[in-house]
Amino acid sequence: MNLFRRKPLDVLIAEGGDEAHGLKKALTAGDLLALGIGAIIGAGIFATLGSATSGGTGLPPAGPGVVVSILITAVACGFCGLCYAEFASLVPVAGSAYTYSYATLGELVAWIIGWDLILEYAVGNVAVAISWAAYFRQLVAGFGVHIPAWMATDWRSAAMAAKAVADSGLASLGPEQRVGYEAFLQHPTLLGVPLVFNLLAASITALITWILVIGVKESARVNDVIVVLKVATLVFFVVVGAFWVKPANWHPFFPGGLHGVWTGASLIFFAYIGFDAISTAAEECKDPGRDMPRGILGSLLVCTVLYVGAALVLTGIIPFAQLKGVADPLAAALSYAKQGWAAGILAFGAVVAMTSVLLVFQLGQPRILMAMSRDGLLGPWFGKIHARYRTPHAATILTGLFVAFFSAVANIDEIVQLTNIGTLFAFVLVCIGILVLRVREPGRPRKFRVPLSPFTPLLGIAMCLALMAGLPLLTWVRFVLWLLVGLAIYFAYGARRSRLANGGAT
Ligand code: ALA
Repeated sequence: MNLFRRKPLDVLIAEGGDEAHGLKKALTAGDLLALGIGAIIGAGIFATLGSATSGGTGLPPAGPGVVVSILITAVACGFCGLCYAEFASLVPVAGSAYTYSYATLGELVAWIIGWDLILEYAVGNVAVAISWAAYFRQLVAGFGVHIPAWMATDWRSAAMAAKAVADSGLASLGPEQRVGYEAFLQHPTLLGVPLVFNLLAASITALITWILVIGVKESARVNDVIVVLKVATLVFFVVVGAFWVKPANWHPFFPGGLHGVWTGASLIFFAYIGFDAISTAAEECKDPGRDMPRGILGSLLVCTVLYVGAALVLTGIIPFAQLKGVADPLAAALSYAKQGWAAGILAFGAVVAMTSVLLVFQLGQPRILMAMSRDGLLGPWFGKIHARYRTPHAATILTGLFVAFFSAVANIDEIVQLTNIGTLFAFVLVCIGILVLRVREPGRPRKFRVPLSPFTPLLGIAMCLALMAGLPLLTWVRFVLWLLVGLAIYFAYGARRSRLANGGAT
């Protein structure tokens, strides 16, 4: 059994160019920029920024120093983004890190990446759905509609809040823990089982899944409108919030020292996930060699400027310690400044922004599963296309069920950490892939070459590993367990059923 068999690059490129798969080549750098911002700005800046600033579960706070965390993460993503751009210009097929690694690092690694990308796409969406629910609940509360707490949180968060009250009293609770405590006190029971689950998060997931199954396409125009709205929401926060900044809140700037800044970077990384999705559009690009790096680096730059502004204003308005356990920090800061009207506008922008992120990732996950199924690494069921809607409905519904279930029962902080470790690992493998290809296929034409290779990919690898090291041990344990389950599935199924192993795809 050859676990390192590789899918030939020529086959991949031909698959992208043939009649059946060939897509129209119409996208420009501006379109890629909009695509990137559409996938990037979401729960990371609207929710995770709070945990990065105040310290996640068991992690030190970055405080206002979260600005430095944001810059560190942006640089790491920049290095990796350049590697994604080279891959995309070399293998301009509608693939992802999975496809790239199948061509460079072999089948076993490709499988690991494909399995690992579930953490980025599906598990990432669990976090976005939970955050969506928190902002949505705030938004409708502004219109006088009270959604009961037991429908908007999970049982463990409720139990943890109850324990915090028992240990340190009611006054010690942050706003989000209050939701948990409210759910703990008032919930229905079914056959003696307490009913506390995030019905709101599961519901938005169900709605998104339905839209994707029937194949309603979000047109480029709608995406552009959403992107403008997202950017406008963050600019609105910075401009309005600036009036309520008290510079005293910036002292001390680094309350958790270097450790706080570093773990903050490991958390805020979530806010950047999505720029890699731009590379999946390479096949539809007019000039991928020129526009891919522009689109990727451009969207990283735009988001970094917005994020730095938002972080400075956030930590200037509200003492960072008050953001502990707050799921909607930007809106909470505006409420803290007694600007309820502005908090309402912000909550609306956040809900729209996160809905579009949910769509992008919920669309991507089934397509990765489909690619793996076509290669024979997953069963044919995952590649089933609906006769009428022409969408991969089986994989889409499975993804929807997975995200809906976990978003109903999971705690957002833990999910963000798991997503980050998985995505960082995928980035490491992509950077390694670039190094391998430079040795193995030095002469193959590339429309874009990573500058200063091997240093750029090596710096990308080093920074991603360092960010992974900033995550808690429990997250590492979960990550390793996830990979072990994946390996077991590969050896039980894919290793023998692979099309490549059986003479196909060559
Ligand atoms: N970067 C995406 C978000 O923050 C995943 O929602």
